[in-house]
Amino acid sequence: GSEMKIRGQRIVNMGVKILTQHSGVPGIDTFEVYRKQGGYAAVEKALKSMSPEEVLEEVKKSGLRGRGGAGFPTGLKWSFLAKPEGVPRYLVCNADESEPGTFKDRELMSRNPHSLIEGMIVSSYALGANTSYIYVRGELFYVIRILEKAIAEAYEKGLLGKNILGTGYDLDLYVQPGGGAYICGEETALIESLEGKRGNPRIKPPFPAVSGVWGCPTVVNNVETIAATSWIILNGGDEYAKIGIGRSTGTKLISACGNINQPGIYEIELGLPVEEFIYSDEYCGGIAGGKRLKAVVAGGSSVPVLPANLILKTIAGEPRLMTYESLADGGFATGTMMGSGGFIAMDEDACIVRNTWNFTRFYHHESCGQCSPCREGTGWMEKVLHRIEYGHGKMSDIDLLVDVAAKIEGNTICPLGDAAAWPVGSAIRHFREEFEWHVKEPRLSQQQNYGLAAY
Ligand code: NAI
Ligand code: SF4
Repeated sequence: GSEMKIRGQRIVNMGVKILTQHSGVPGIDTFEVYRKQGGYAAVEKALKSMSPEEVLEEVKKSGLRGRGGAGFPTGLKWSFLAKPEGVPRYLVCNADESEPGTFKDRELMSRNPHSLIEGMIVSSYALGANTSYIYVRGELFYVIRILEKAIAEAYEKGLLGKNILGTGYDLDLYVQPGGGAYICGEETALIESLEGKRGNPRIKPPFPAVSGVWGCPTVVNNVETIAATSWIILNGGDEYAKIGIGRSTGTKLISACGNINQPGIYEIELGLPVEEFIYSDEYCGGIAGGKRLKAVVAGGSSVPVLPANLILKTIAGEPRLMTYESLADGGFATGTMMGSGGFIAMDEDACIVRNTWNFTRFYHHESCGQCSPCREGTGWMEKVLHRIEYGHGKMSDIDLLVDVAAKIEGNTICPLGDAAAWPVGSAIRHFREEFEWHVKEPRLSQQQNYGLAAY
């Protein structure tokens, strides 16, 4: 652990483990071991001694925010759920994790499936849902198998199905394999896909809280968000809110990758300084090969890229922290977003142009094609970035990219358009010289990336 003072507030990183508390326990994926480790105690507590409103109240008090990327307060989202008489309500777990650089949910589900099932029961109870779904990224066959096995065990032990633990509460839980597209992770596209249709995002409002699965009120929450609710119910919302700093309470799973010594998934207490996360042996262990840090994409590929000086410190010179607020400090001029916690570090030899092209190629491929700015704009950006990267770019291409990105941003049905625009806009804002160098010295820039012989 470590201790420091920022804006007069003492921040202690105690290394609290909530989502990874069972990490390393052999057989934790089985009902028996999970139960022996204290598992399903939150279900007993919630269903036997609390009303659904009381469960909701604890989640509100905890300050828990959506861990899929948007950081929307979970308790508030739950309280928006419409409750018309005689209409069923649904909880859908968004396990369609596909954000480049983000690989936390799949590990949580495959290593500790019962922790998600327990969270699903507690959360469904709070929402008054009697049917719930886990929508799992279609490619993750092994995760689907693990979840189905764990769900069967939970049914067998009376934790799912009719009259759970004799409390009179019924819940059926289904695993739905995803449609195999990144866009199916967008909550309204996910709902369309769950209903058996093509995963095209719907226009919001109406929000799923009012009209979701089969037109019924629905809450869509990320895997990590739902898994955190069990601890909150067992220990109380106030205890959870003590962890972290300000409006960024609790812990967050960060999947760290790129040019670091120790790639992996870390459960951090929100408020950890970014510098400590990158350089301490407890986390990333510094930049591989003793090289210098060049840039970081902190929240999965959908957020602005920041150069090393800005990711480590804010414009005011304060250490930047792993919180929703601190990462966003300075807006998009000098800040970025926490997003889904996909932390991609790039060293001094990484090519920003190539990386930006690679991201854009992904968004172009994954655009559902419903709105012109996204469908056409991602394609144009991809083409222009490709020609700059492969040595055929013009100086005017750089401003053309800025222009196209600006015309996509804010003009699309779903956030995929913004997600495609932000990495391009920010890369040019912070690394314009590198784009210019690619135009001026195409052979040198290609030598850096591929070696001259190949091209
Ligand atoms: P959003 O900000 O539109 O919505 C957040 C949540 O709050 C949604 O569930 C929405 O329905 C609910 N909400 C907001 N206002 C509401 C209201 N007035 N009434 C009822 N409900 C309301 O963001 P969205 O589209 O859910 O998520 C975008 C984020 O997803 C991006 O920031 C990105 O970081 C992340 N993302 C994560 C991926 C992953 O693999 N984990 C993949 C792609 C994006
Ligand atoms: Fe489809 Fe892109 Fe429009 Fe989203 S922004 S609805 S992915 S075309």
